[in-house]
Amino acid sequence: MKRIAVLTSGGDAPGMNAAIRAVVRGGVARGMEAFGVRYGYAGLMADNMIPLGPRDVGGIIGRGGTILGSARAPEFRTEAGRMQALHNLNARGIEGLVVIGGNGSQAGAAALAQMGFAVVGVASTIDNDLVGSDITIGVDTALEVALEAVDRLKVTASSHGRAFLIEVMGRGCGYLALMTGLAGGAEAIVIPEVETDPEEIAGVIRESYEHGKPHAVVVVAEGAKLNAAALMSYFGQHQERLGFEVRATILGHVQRGDDPTASDRVLATQLGAAAVEQLAQGQSGVLVGMIQGQVVATPYAEVLSGSKPIDLNLLALAQMLNR
Ligand code: F6P
Repeated sequence: MKRIAVLTSGGDAPGMNAAIRAVVRGGVARGMEAFGVRYGYAGLMADNMIPLGPRDVGGIIGRGGTILGSARAPEFRTEAGRMQALHNLNARGIEGLVVIGGNGSQAGAAALAQMGFAVVGVASTIDNDLVGSDITIGVDTALEVALEAVDRLKVTASSHGRAFLIEVMGRGCGYLALMTGLAGGAEAIVIPEVETDPEEIAGVIRESYEHGKPHAVVVVAEGAKLNAAALMSYFGQHQERLGFEVRATILGHVQRGDDPTASDRVLATQLGAAAVEQLAQGQSGVLVGMIQGQVVATPYAEVLSGSKPIDLNLLALAQMLNR
C-alpha cells in the first residue's frame, strides 16, 4: 500500500492529534504517503484533503482537539454519499483509510469497508462506549477535567452548605459519570445502566445533611433518565426535605477541550501506529483498540453488534463509601 488517508470524525476527543501524528509518521516510516481529510466524512465526500508529511504533524502530540477538524455527516449514511467518497479516494490513488472516532464514525467506516475499500478504525471517544477497546482515546483526559470540576464545586458547595448535581457527558453510557463519581468521592452517582428512583437520591442528600457533611455531590450521566434537569425539577418540589439547597452544573463540552493526558497520548500513539500496521498487512474492516494492555484488532461485525458493559461493582463501592 503506497498511499493512505486519515480522518477524525464525530465528537472530538483529546488525543486525536497524537493518533493523526502516529498514522502519518507510521505511514511514512513504511514508505507510504499520507493525506489528511478535513472535517471527517463531510470532507471525504467533498474531496477536502491535504497531503500530510512528518513536519505537518510536528508539535501536535500534546494538543487537544483535531488539526483535521471533525464533523457529524448524516449524508455519509446514504449509498450515494459513500459512493462519492469512494470516487474521491480512488481518484487520488488512496488505497487505505484510517478512521479515528467513536461508534457512529466506526459504523461509517464499516460501511465503506463493506464496499471493498480498505479501512481500519481507531477507538476514540470520551464516552468509552466502544466494544473493542477497554479504554478509548480521550476518556482519561475528559475524566480529569470532570474530576477537577467536581473538586472545585465541592469547595464552593462546602462554603455554602449546598448539594450539587454535576452532569457529565457520555451519551448513553455511564462510564464517565461512574468514574468521575468514584474518583470525586460523590455521595451519589446516577447512570443510565441503573434505574434510579429520585427519592433514593433525595434520601442520600438528606442523610448527608443529617450526618453533618458540609455538602452533597451527585454525579449524573447526561444519558440517565434522571439527568440533572429531571432531578432539579423533582427536587424543586421537595426542597424542604433535602436539608441542603441544591444547585446543578452541566459540564458539557468543557470535558472535550483539554490537552491530552500522558495516558491518552500514549494510547493514541499506539493505536494510530497499529492502524497503519493493519493496513500494511492487508487488513480491513477492523477497529484497533487496547484490550488488557494489548493492542487488538477487532472485526467491525463484533464491534458494532455488541454493547460495552460497565463495572457495576464500582457503583456499589462508591455507594458503600458515601457515608
Ligand atoms: O460522543 C461524544 C459526546 O461528547 C457525547 O458525550 C455527547 O453526548 C455528544 O458527543 C455531544 O455531541 P455534540 O458535540 O455534537 O454536541
